[in-house]
Amino acid sequence: MVLPFKLSIAQDSCEAEKDFAKEILDQVARKKNSLIGLATGQTMIGVYEILIKKEHKSPGLFKEVVFAQLDEIIPNSDRENLFSLQLKEGFLNRLKGGYASFLSIDVSKPDLTLEASRYLSLIASLGGIDLQILGIGVNGHVGYNEPGSKKDSRCRVVKLAPTTIERAGYTSGMQGITLGISDILKSKRIALLATGIDKAAAISGAIKSTPSIDNPASLLVTHNMIKIILDSSAGSFLTN
Ligand code: GLP
Repeated sequence: MVLPFKLSIAQDSCEAEKDFAKEILDQVARKKNSLIGLATGQTMIGVYEILIKKEHKSPGLFKEVVFAQLDEIIPNSDRENLFSLQLKEGFLNRLKGGYASFLSIDVSKPDLTLEASRYLSLIASLGGIDLQILGIGVNGHVGYNEPGSKKDSRCRVVKLAPTTIERAGYTSGMQGITLGISDILKSKRIALLATGIDKAAAISGAIKSTPSIDNPASLLVTHNMIKIILDSSAGSFLTN
């Protein structure tokens, strides 16, 4: 079978995280002042730890890089931690040599539709995203583009799917803001990481089925520079 994208399946999640971190390091090696879109979620924690270790050996490795967030929650309570904060505390603030800047979505703004267009204009004014890194939800969501999101969707306020709310322990009716599928597709490169058996069905739906709004990740696989990195568990439904 000839795949229209690069797929690698590592033996375990540690190897997959290493391979994925290399995609980010390769991007910075190609272009020191890259604009890199960051994702949150459990899947990325190990990747950020690898990048921090690398940077501590070469402080300043990311000093010209502009980072941007992929999506954000619109919190209903203090218990619900902003993604921008998670990215700062878990990754950016721990870089010894710093970074050029971090573009974030300000959910405290009164008009979030306006904030979504400000965010898109800011990214466009800097020449667009060089590398967007992505996880995937168990229902195939990318960022917060839940099933039903269209290929031409833009940065916008979205309702989270019940499964997403339940898995994250959020309050019901929770909303978020996310770059749309069309915004993600504008990135020069995309790297998607999935680990664990929980993601196997979403990955198989994204890769083996006809692209459909039922599995938003499936709408990305036609991108000419997408790399999908899996561990053997996340890739386990691909062989049958
Ligand atoms: C979250 C985030 C995504 C993330 C995905 C997977 O809800 N909005 O950016 O990639 O779902 O999360 P996890 O890695 O915790 O499974």
